[in-house]
Amino acid sequence: MKVGSPEHRDLFCSAFIAGYRAYEPEQLAWPIVEPKYLERLRAIPFWGVAKAMERKAGIMVTAFGKTLEDPVIREAVLLQGAEETRHARLITYFIDRYGLPARQIDTPDLLPARKEDFVVFGYEECVDFFMGAWLFRLASQLDVFPADLVSIFEHIIFEEARHVTFFINWFRYEEARAGRDGVVSRHLVALKNYARSIKQLVRSFAGEETTGFAAVNAKDLIEGMTPMMFLEAALAENRLLLGRLDRRLLKPSLLPGLALTMLTALRALPPRPVATERAVPDNSRRSLDSSIAA
Ligand SMILES: [Fe+2]
Ligand SMILES: [Fe+2]
Repeated sequence: MKVGSPEHRDLFCSAFIAGYRAYEPEQLAWPIVEPKYLERLRAIPFWGVAKAMERKAGIMVTAFGKTLEDPVIREAVLLQGAEETRHARLITYFIDRYGLPARQIDTPDLLPARKEDFVVFGYEECVDFFMGAWLFRLASQLDVFPADLVSIFEHIIFEEARHVTFFINWFRYEEARAGRDGVVSRHLVALKNYARSIKQLVRSFAGEETTGFAAVNAKDLIEGMTPMMFLEAALAENRLLLGRLDRRLLKPSLLPGLALTMLTALRALPPRPVATERAVPDNSRRSLDSSIAA
């Protein structure tokens, strides 16, 4: 299949649409959460930001979809907009149901929705997906969050895996049709766009509330969190979720490639002092190793 061909367009749009799952947030099997978990959930300062980010995504993606002339791509982008809007409703329901603290952040009803806005958003989603998708599974493995609650969030995270895969295919399709699909120029464009998104993540590390905030605060949730644990968990989750999607689709590869290089370099370093080793529970290291080997 040639990238940029009508067959490519039909594949990435139809695969995305076929992956849609009908549900309403209120009808999901929300569990009764034990006080020890509730306390942890209530200590996370991220919920208001998460709700606002999803709401903005729904508004912008829906508005962008309405500008598209190609009916096949338009249908898929509008579906993504509906899924982002549903994410905002789901987080709102979650906040209300468990009485979580959530700072009110006003979101305008209209947002710029040009092609470049969708591109910036798409790369940000790729970074957020890679940085954050692993968090709930690892938190569940380590019993930081209850498994029945995590399974609800796994649906959202899988929807985000579909979004980033759709985005990467759409972007390459558009670039190929514009005659810009050479290997070198393609990687330069991707690096430029990722750099812009990673800047946002750096702002998160500096304490600012952006979409990378949850991943950045993971070290407060997961005792003994190390860069190697993070890279292993992120790569394993990335492989697991993207592996569930159609093999013929292009998948985000630049960030996983950089992460794998960093992980290989970290593994080549001399062993850490014993005290640091003890901070990580033995059972968690085993489960991480088995998932990365899968
Ligand atoms: Fe979303
Ligand atoms: Fe998304």
